Amino acid sequence: MSSPVVEAKNLKQVYEIKRGMFRASDHLQAVGGVSFAIEAGKTLAVVGESGCGKSTLARMVTLIEHPTSGELILNGMDAVHPKPSEKKTLRQMVQLVFQNPYGSLNPRKKIGAILEEPLIINTKLTAAERRERVREMMVKVGLRPDYYNRYPHMFSGGQRQRIAIARALMLSPKLVVADEPVSALDVSIQAQVLNLLADLQKELGLAYLFISHDLGVVRYIADDVLVMYLGNVVEHGPKEKIYANALHPYTQALLSSTPTVTDEKNERIILKGELPSPLNPPSGCVFSTRCPFVKDRCRAERPASREVDGRSVACHFAEDFLSK
Ligand SMILES: Nc1ncnc2c1ncn2[C@@H]1O[C@H](COP(=O)(O)OP(=O)(O)OP(=O)(O)O)[C@@H](O)[C@H]1O
Ligand SMILES: [Mg+2]
Repeated sequence: MSSPVVEAKNLKQVYEIKRGMFRASDHLQAVGGVSFAIEAGKTLAVVGESGCGKSTLARMVTLIEHPTSGELILNGMDAVHPKPSEKKTLRQMVQLVFQNPYGSLNPRKKIGAILEEPLIINTKLTAAERRERVREMMVKVGLRPDYYNRYPHMFSGGQRQRIAIARALMLSPKLVVADEPVSALDVSIQAQVLNLLADLQKELGLAYLFISHDLGVVRYIADDVLVMYLGNVVEHGPKEKIYANALHPYTQALLSSTPTVTDEKNERIILKGELPSPLNPPSGCVFSTRCPFVKDRCRAERPASREVDGRSVACHFAEDFLSK
């Protein structure tokens, strides 16, 4: 069995919110213990509504933020407490692609210079060699190499996302974390960028952590799906299992609100109430205040994640939802 490119064990992020000099600070648990593994060539999609902790997870996995606790193993190396000699390798192994590439591309720099930058910082390649690498990468992501001297504003949204992907790949990472990479694009362009990501994955054996709130997109790109609610994992497993028969009521609600993945026989579940504040999460099950099937036990006791029908699910009554 091949070892995973990335393994997260109980990763947590708690932010301290200062309330002024003489008041105790509050603690906001943005990510409350997330575990997963991704093998080369595979995609784990992380889904959940705004504020559930997806980007916080992305920042921990890309080493931008240190987790409050938990383990992160990249290619067998400890990424939370890295050996000094492994720091540089670790940083190059994982790259982030954002939702809005325009915000992350320097408008005063030409595309060629933007793509060369990681090579200047991290390699000893000559100027001619760097230029050659950049032109190769531009072709690989579907950009004409003679665009080398153009500025970011001269490109369309889809092209700019190709540039951001090219930049992420310049140092041959093993894991790409993509945080809503197609959410800002028109639907027709989304499909092109998703196809590009799929082709690059096949060609380069990349592992993807793909963050999205769009379950239609996730069905297309994912191997495994991890569903988050208020910083907690509610369901996690193979895409086929989850789309065929979601066992957590929150997953069911998400799927039922995605027209492209429901068939008529499924009723639409409308969630009542507001998303609770992560500063004051419900006791018991995090979803208990909005669950259509809530029972007393759910308000009293936080369900642990457990294996049911080939995936893990954190619901006391998951078996009730197994399709017969
Ligand atoms: N640096 C920070 N300090 C304090 N709280 C933060 C910080 N970053 C994020 N949060 C809080 O942590 C929670 C999770 O935020 P996060 O950005 O990870 O959610 P998300 O799932 O990416 O949401 P979206 O879909 O809107 O991008 C939110 O309640 C957010 O307000
Ligand atoms: Mg986010």
